Amino acid sequence: MLINHQWGQHPGDAAIKESLQQGYLLVIKNFPLSDEELQLFISRLGTALNERRNNNGKAVFNVIISRHNNFFTSIANSNLAFPLHTDCADFDEIPNTIGLLCVEPDEEGQGTNTFMLLSSLLRHLPEDEKQKMLGKKWKFGNQQRSILSFEDGNYAFCYDRITMESFSRLEATEIDELNKLDKLFKSLSFEIKLEKGDLILFRNDLMLHGRDKMHIDSKRWIKRIRFDMKY
Ligand SMILES: [Fe+2]
Repeated sequence: MLINHQWGQHPGDAAIKESLQQGYLLVIKNFPLSDEELQLFISRLGTALNERRNNNGKAVFNVIISRHNNFFTSIANSNLAFPLHTDCADFDEIPNTIGLLCVEPDEEGQGTNTFMLLSSLLRHLPEDEKQKMLGKKWKFGNQQRSILSFEDGNYAFCYDRITMESFSRLEATEIDELNKLDKLFKSLSFEIKLEKGDLILFRNDLMLHGRDKMHIDSKRWIKRIRFDMKY
C-alpha cells in the first residue's frame, strides 16, 4: 500500500508510474524543499496543472494556514478538517495524480493525512451499492458525474461532498446516502503522518484523501502539485 524510497535512490520514472497505476502510495524521503525541484521531478512523470492561484501561476500551491482580514484566503488555507475526497471533482479534466511535499509538519502532529483506497471499497461494497454508485449522476459544479465509473476495465473514483453540496440542493434521502458513504469511507481509511521532506505521490482517481483539523496557528506547510500521468 505504501512504498518508501530515499531521494536519489528512488526507482526510475517508469517504475514510479507503474506503482502509482497499481494504486500504491509512494513516499520519497528527503526530497528537496523547492518548487523548482518539485516541478522538474513531476514534469518527468506527467503534465502538471498550472493554476492562477499557485505560486507564480505555476504548478505548486502552498497549503498553509493563511488569513486576510480574519477570513481564510481559501478553504485549502484553513485549519479545518477535510473529509475524504477527490481533488478537482468539478474540473473539466480531473488530474489523475497528486504530489504533497511536506515542508513543515504540524508541531503537535495534527493535520494528519488520511486515505481510502478504491480497491478496499470495492472489496467491501455490496454489488447493488456498487451499481448505484456507478449509475447515479451527481452534480459537481457544471459536471454531472457518477461517484464510481468503469472504463477500459478500470474503476475510477470521483467524490467530493463539499463540492456536491455547494452546487446543488440535495434531497434528505441523498444526504442520508452520502452520510452512509462517508461513514463507510472513514471506516476503511488509514492515516499517514508526513515528515519534513516527505514527498507523497498518489492517484487522485484510485483513492480518496483527506486531512485532520489542526490548531489555527499551526505552521504546517505542504507544497501541493496536481498532475496528469498518461500511460
Ligand atoms: Fe484535496
